[in-house]
Amino acid sequence: MNFDMGKLRFFLGNYQFFSLLLFYLYSQAFISSSFTNSLIERPTCSHNESQALLQFKQTLFFDCNASFLCNPNYGIAAFLKTDSWKEDTDCCSWEGVTCDSDTGRVIGLDLSCSWLCGTIPSNSSLFFLQHLKRLNLAFNNFRQSNISAKFGQFPNLTHLNLSNSFSSGQVPSEISHLSKLVSLDLSRFSLPFPSDQEPFNELKLETTTLKRLALNFSRVKELFLDGIDMCSVDHGYLMNLSSSLTSLSLVDCGLNGTISDRIFRFPNLKLLKLGKNPELVVYLPKSNGTSTLEILDLKQTVLVGDLSGSIRGLKSLKSLNLASCDLNGSIPTSLANLSQLVVLELPDNNFSGWIPASFANLTELQHLDLSYNGLEGTIPPFANGLSN
Ligand SMILES: *[C@@H]1O[C@H](CO)[C@@H](O)[C@H](O)[C@H]1NC(C)=O
Ligand SMILES: *[C@@H]1O[C@H](CO)[C@@H](O)[C@H](O)[C@H]1NC(C)=O
Ligand SMILES: *[C@@H]1O[C@H](CO)[C@@H](O)[C@H](O)[C@H]1NC(C)=O
Ligand SMILES: *[C@@H]1O[C@H](CO)[C@@H](O)[C@H](O)[C@H]1NC(C)=O
Ligand SMILES: *[C@@H]1O[C@H](CO)[C@@H](O)[C@H](O)[C@H]1NC(C)=O
Ligand SMILES: *[C@@H]1O[C@H](CO)[C@@H](O)[C@H](O)[C@H]1NC(C)=O
Ligand SMILES: *[C@@H]1O[C@H](CO)[C@@H](O)[C@H](O)[C@H]1NC(C)=O
Ligand SMILES: *[C@@H]1O[C@H](CO)[C@@H](O)[C@H](O)[C@H]1NC(C)=O
Ligand SMILES: *[C@@H]1O[C@H](CO)[C@@H](O)[C@H](O)[C@H]1NC(C)=O
Ligand SMILES: *[C@@H]1O[C@H](CO)[C@@H](O)[C@H](O)[C@H]1NC(C)=O
Repeated sequence: MNFDMGKLRFFLGNYQFFSLLLFYLYSQAFISSSFTNSLIERPTCSHNESQALLQFKQTLFFDCNASFLCNPNYGIAAFLKTDSWKEDTDCCSWEGVTCDSDTGRVIGLDLSCSWLCGTIPSNSSLFFLQHLKRLNLAFNNFRQSNISAKFGQFPNLTHLNLSNSFSSGQVPSEISHLSKLVSLDLSRFSLPFPSDQEPFNELKLETTTLKRLALNFSRVKELFLDGIDMCSVDHGYLMNLSSSLTSLSLVDCGLNGTISDRIFRFPNLKLLKLGKNPELVVYLPKSNGTSTLEILDLKQTVLVGDLSGSIRGLKSLKSLNLASCDLNGSIPTSLANLSQLVVLELPDNNFSGWIPASFANLTELQHLDLSYNGLEGTIPPFANGLSN
């Protein structure tokens, strides 16, 4: 730009240069003001929805530790999103708020990791936001309160995320009214500190609720219920879930009884986590089981069936966790056929013999854990070849 202006000055002399410069500045001002006008012409947030959001903000308080689980090291940082929420400004421009571009209605609210502390009773103004499609309140501290049945009354909700938000009590059966739901995340981390310091009650899920949601969530793709107490649940109803299912995560849910190998037959399933359910008996899939599965976590479960054969069918696997499954014999060489494998965890079993030399084929591998087994011999020379 400086260079061009220099050239212009050379050709036109000072007077022309300054009038050109003025014209240039004027045109820039004109362009930017018409740009702002076009923004203003977009539909703005309705007064009602704006008031509902402000009221919702007022019923919660801010506690710098409420989102202590949000850690920038895991890619989630906490900050005070509602700081930008001010009266007499367009709520569509507020942090965490998304409006429909045609109607201006609030269709998305993402207040995850926002240091929110308090409860959301059934008369909360949050429930006035009837047009919501996506609602994320994950990683806040709702102080062990019950999840209000009103969460089941957003007619168009597709995404609901209340993970790690310190709610407790029964998951309300009304949640099954959300028939357009695509993604439900009510999961809870296993906390990094010892469990005797875990002052948290659990969320519980009843069989009737699971039954209803399995039948009514006809579009559901993702179901993350880790850490929810499901010890008295008849999990057979999981088989009634929609064939659109891509992710099912039930880590540490106190599941017992047996789970049929039909769980592996959801045609679009990519992620299946049933780990940390030590009372759960899992029937391994036959070798023609689903081939779409990428992430399989069965750690600390009781496995029944032909492991070696099942593995052959799971060709898309990227991550396999069979830690603490009481497996014995030699490590199945069929594992070496899983050429996409990035993570392989087999610690705390009774495997004996040598590490298969064919593991050299696992060129994508980044993480391999064979600790706490009865292996012998030397580490095969392939260890130098697995460059990742
Ligand atoms: C605003 O809310 C009131 C009740 O809270 C309702 O009667 C009214 O119809 C709403 N107006 C709009 C434009 O949504
Ligand atoms: C935040 O709360 C957690 C759980 O109560 C606790 O472990 C942690 O030390 C607290 N952090 C701070 C900075 O107070
Ligand atoms: C909700 O109801 C409680 C009493 O149950 C009341 O104290 C509170 O002010 C109400 N909140 C709103 C936002 O109406
Ligand atoms: C829900 O979505 C339908 C179809 O897009 C729309 O006609 C209806 O107005 C929406 N309802 C609400 C409360 O936003
Ligand atoms: C729920 O929200 C948290 C925080 O934003 C995010 O890490 C997590 O992936 C979300 N869950 C789903 C199923 O999208
Ligand atoms: C919370 O839910 C439990 C049942 O799960 C119920 O007994 C209790 O009364 C509820 N508490 C409140 C404050 O609604
Ligand atoms: C299924 O969803 C529809 C639509 O939201 C609702 O009217 C119905 O009560 C739900 N059924 C169950 C069993 O939750
Ligand atoms: C639900 O699953 C059970 C067991 O898999 C099956 O017998 C039943 O027919 C299914 N019900 C519906 C409505 O799909
Ligand atoms: C699972 O555990 C529950 C509660 O401990 C018990 O009532 C039920 O009989 C168990 N079911 C099986 C199949 O072991
Ligand atoms: C393949 O799967 C079908 C069910 O999807 C099953 O009936 C059949 O026995 C399986 N075949 C083999 C060879 O495992």
